[in-house]
Amino acid sequence: MDNGKRIVLTGFMGVGKSTVARHLAGILHTQRIDLDSVIEAGEKQTIAEIIKTCGLLRFRQIETETLRKVLAENSARILALGGGAWTIAENRRLIKTQNCTSVWLESSFEHCWRNIKSSKRERPLAENKDQTRKLFDDRQNFYCLADWHFIVKPDLTSYEIAKKIAEEVFLIKFE
Ligand code: S3P
Repeated sequence: MDNGKRIVLTGFMGVGKSTVARHLAGILHTQRIDLDSVIEAGEKQTIAEIIKTCGLLRFRQIETETLRKVLAENSARILALGGGAWTIAENRRLIKTQNCTSVWLESSFEHCWRNIKSSKRERPLAENKDQTRKLFDDRQNFYCLADWHFIVKPDLTSYEIAKKIAEEVFLIKFE
């Protein structure tokens, strides 16, 4: 049995939020949800298409509205956010008022960048290495506002990180 907490996973693009969320949901036998996937299903467009056709501001509005709806109507206890969602004050407020615990997955920029580059997903906010590094640096002040902080070292697998979160945040005991 775990302690019943509901969490959001935040952290920079490429840190592995969605994969850790999948493993964690498996360990806890609970539902997980990926905010970007919900947005894509609702808008019938990829995140990259939304940002390119409607602009970043509109994407952020859709993101906040989707987050509000998911937190209010969906009972999934593991929610993987897109990398920018936690940097918006209104989103952090919604997460807190819904009694969600926030968990920051932290890694080095180079680790995130390697994953961004090797992924097939198009990420319009990570097209140029120097600009992406600047975004990474600027966001650390927001990510550190999360309740929990786990460092994703390159030698740890996503499953091992999920296990650590299960042990420390959900108080699951492994033999
Ligand atoms: C974004 C991260 C993306 C996606 C969008 C914006 C960001 O999600 O939400 O492209 O601002 O960092 P991932 O963190 O899953 O790549």
